[in-house]
Amino acid sequence: MIDRLEALKARALEELAQIGDVPDLESWRVRYLGKRGALTQVLRGVGTLAPTDRPVVGQIANELKATLERELADKRAGLEAAARAQEIERERVDVTLPGRPIALGQKHVVTQVVDEIADIFRGMGFQIAVGPEVEWDYYNFEALNIPKDHPARDRWDTLYVGGQSRPGEVLLRTHTSPNQVRVMEKTRPPVRVIVPGKCYRYEAVDATHEWMFYQVEGLAVDESLTMADMKGTLTAFVHRMFGPERRLRLRCDYFPFVEPGAEVAIDCHVCHGAGCTLCKQTGWIEIMGAGMVHPKVLEGVGYDPSVYSGFAFGMGPERIAMLKYGIDDIRLFYGNDLRFLRQWK
Ligand code: FA5
Repeated sequence: MIDRLEALKARALEELAQIGDVPDLESWRVRYLGKRGALTQVLRGVGTLAPTDRPVVGQIANELKATLERELADKRAGLEAAARAQEIERERVDVTLPGRPIALGQKHVVTQVVDEIADIFRGMGFQIAVGPEVEWDYYNFEALNIPKDHPARDRWDTLYVGGQSRPGEVLLRTHTSPNQVRVMEKTRPPVRVIVPGKCYRYEAVDATHEWMFYQVEGLAVDESLTMADMKGTLTAFVHRMFGPERRLRLRCDYFPFVEPGAEVAIDCHVCHGAGCTLCKQTGWIEIMGAGMVHPKVLEGVGYDPSVYSGFAFGMGPERIAMLKYGIDDIRLFYGNDLRFLRQWK
């Protein structure tokens, strides 16, 4: 019996040494220490021994059981530690590796320029308003003293929106000036407002003309406002936008909704007035249209032109961005080339 126990021990430990994973360990346990396992079988036979042999064999068998259980526990701990180490190695993250950069969005350069324009006028007490891009002919033209068949309509090549029931009455606004009327209809003077937004024209696209572009409209109405107020306001704007050394030039221009009307230019910041390719050798760069609000427009919204006067202006932020950043083609803004757009963080 003792020999059988010794042989069992040798076999069990040898097999245990070969085991390489936890499931095999369990079947080893069942084979040797389980209810029907080899050691249990031997222990059952102890009862058939001579009474004098029983304690000796019993003790050896119990010691063997304890040995196998201890070896099993050690082996299990070893295998589990090795498995854990393997898993840790497999899932190891090298925290010293540089991270992947997150692609952050940013405001479009034209939006940034519109924001800058808005901030400058906000600083002078102007409020910001918005108006619809799909507009009535009435606001885009009629209420601005441009009746049907007026030759000035040619200045704005208009995209009309379909609709059989109201042909020619709904359009994509060609400028932000309809908001002069919309704002005045809703408020009483004093008015000081700017209205940024998109405009659309049936335009032959080139380096300075897009068919979709932004404008920022400005309007101030109060008792006895004069052209001097307009010039002062626009000079303050130009100095903030382009630097305090810039000079402003107003020349006569015609817009049916202002009288007098003006074309506003700044002296060229590249040649300082001497003449270069940017200013087409003129020394001046046009940045907006402006003028004193026409009495007919004031009357149309119920303002008494003998009491109130006002000035209005409309500028193109793309053209301003082009001057500010030395961009020579307006089409770059809406070409969606990220190499171009990412220059403005
Ligand atoms: C107007 O649209 C007038 N509503 C401006 C105005 C407002 C005059 C208030 C008087 C009082 P004009 O068509 O010149 O005017 O356009 C004004 C500005 O919009 C231009 O100076 C230019 O900067 C910009 N602009 C006009 N057409 C385009 C275009 N196709 N692409 C890009 N910018 C344009």
